[in-house]
Amino acid sequence: MNSDGVAIPAAARALRAAPRVVVATGAGMSQDSGIPTFRDAARGLWARYDPEELATEAAFRRHPARVFGWYAWRRRLVHAATPHAGYHALVALEGLVPELAIVTQNVDGLHTRVGSRRVLELHGSLERFSCLDARHPFPAERAPEPAADTECEPPRCEQCGSPVRPDVVWFGEMLPERVTAEAWALAASCRAMLVVGTSGLVQPAAQLPLIAREAGATVIEVNPDPTELSDAAHIVCRGRAGAVLPALVAALTQGATQ
Ligand code: APR
Repeated sequence: MNSDGVAIPAAARALRAAPRVVVATGAGMSQDSGIPTFRDAARGLWARYDPEELATEAAFRRHPARVFGWYAWRRRLVHAATPHAGYHALVALEGLVPELAIVTQNVDGLHTRVGSRRVLELHGSLERFSCLDARHPFPAERAPEPAADTECEPPRCEQCGSPVRPDVVWFGEMLPERVTAEAWALAASCRAMLVVGTSGLVQPAAQLPLIAREAGATVIEVNPDPTELSDAAHIVCRGRAGAVLPALVAALTQGATQ
């Protein structure tokens, strides 16, 4: 189903009929708020580095100031960003269905900032820090926030002196165990899954829509472009998250009052 004129009402019907809804979001969710996707995030000072080479423990050990500075820059972009209407639509959706959880690959914290209540962060958060060696937590308010786009020496752990890193999942690292188990259980037991702004290229997050489909849920994709997951979707809403999600909630609200 590709026409939005048909897809949005069909998606609204599927969501209305679902006792449990999971929304799986990726970098495209934040695109309409001006936050560059992961691969676009290598701009300016960072353009000469491959992001996949900045987001590893080995890179941090070799060039701590470079990697910490890149994350500090991304964190500043997130703080300056305003969550778009699609974020608010997901908050509204929470009130329109019996149970809703958001499982996100994003580390920007925007779902929580607008008031979504059940948010599972599969890849960690730019707003949390811990030390490299022992993963002792480090208070975010003490993390340096350089005003310019520059390299930045990480602070040291107050307990063991190890350098402090962002609490995000780097390439080659395991996803957080408890959050992942919960996300997988939700995917296997939801009746509808909205898949928003993800290319479906990054594992293991890309499995979630396939698990939901296998378990009998209706899978709805919201993305302006075809993805690896499009074939697994029962309903495809071709468009931007900032436009499609409010339209979906409007259709759901109208349907509820008919
Ligand atoms: N609305 C919805 N989707 C959009 C929009 C938009 N306005 N703009 C772009 N997209 C879609 C793109 O078409 C693409 O399918 O968002 C998707 C972004 O894909 P990726 O950048 O691969 O993002 P994601 O799937 O979240 O994977 C990124 O990779 O490196 C890791 O940890 C990192 O979590 C990150 C993950």
